[in-house]
Amino acid sequence: MAELFDTPRKRLVIVTGRSHPELAEQVAKELDVEVLPTTIYDFASGEIYVRYNESVRGCDVFCIQSISGNVSKWLMEHFIMIDALKRASAKRITVVAPLYPYARQDKKHQGREPISARLISDLYKTAGASRLMSIDMHASQEQGFFTGPVDHLQAMPVLIDYVRTRVDLNNVTVVSPDAGRIRVAEKWANRLGGYPLAFVHKTRDTSRPNVAVANRVVGDVAGRTCVLVDDLIDTGGTIAEAVGVLKHAGAKDVLVAATHAVFSDPAAKRLSECGAREVIVTDTVPIPPDKCFPQLKVLPIAPLLARAIRQVFEEGSVTALFE
Ligand code: R5P
Repeated sequence: MAELFDTPRKRLVIVTGRSHPELAEQVAKELDVEVLPTTIYDFASGEIYVRYNESVRGCDVFCIQSISGNVSKWLMEHFIMIDALKRASAKRITVVAPLYPYARQDKKHQGREPISARLISDLYKTAGASRLMSIDMHASQEQGFFTGPVDHLQAMPVLIDYVRTRVDLNNVTVVSPDAGRIRVAEKWANRLGGYPLAFVHKTRDTSRPNVAVANRVVGDVAGRTCVLVDDLIDTGGTIAEAVGVLKHAGAKDVLVAATHAVFSDPAAKRLSECGAREVIVTDTVPIPPDKCFPQLKVLPIAPLLARAIRQVFEEGSVTALFE
């Protein structure tokens, strides 16, 4: 007997906000789909309007927004986009926030502070997110902040493939710029081929934003090429200080590899003058031309994001992408 109803085919939909539309376009191209036409504008009051120009009913939607620069605005736009998808009966809404917002505020260092990274997850959930996809969150345990599945991607394979072509692999030390990234640096060292590890002892003045002091390096770096790895570069203070300490300790040269190039002022100046041979980043967030400098190498992240989106859509394995 014929079925009364055909099961409708799943439809993959990519939508994007205004913070980094180029990234969404590149992802869509990799997936051989079009970004869904969407109307977004600001009212004179500063409030944001969003409307999808086509139906998203029953769709598997990936809602991409890179939150950097005007953080509060892009975040609010992301929430509104998710709300509109929920009210338009999207079947599943995956928040794609390549740089997880407020990731560095993941714990209380002292009394009466918020845990803003947790709040962000709660807000995404309240807006209507079914699942979350992000790249190199500041701390892996932040995956637990979101109530629902989280795909935590790593840019390491993208960065390492390039770094391998730029160093003498017999003379490499992988360096963490602070104690918090040692585990990630260890993964890098293993993936590159079991290279020695070092870390910089960094201290911060918590009463002032963006002030980092690199005190000394722990580990053997003299005469070696140091690959300094970090999740994000904001003002460049951490990296510039670390490069200085490594050079002072006799490092032959230093390559910097970081996932998210936030590049708040004066990052470009600091990075171009710090003495690093090369600063290698991905384009998870937009990097305007005035933030570029001769030693900067930007690697595209869209192919990795697209592969992960395809795995989620086809109910395959995201983990397998990193094995
Ligand atoms: C710190 O824990 C992070 O991993 C980064 O190293 C840091 O937040 C970068 O900030 P900035 O570039 O302003 O020193």
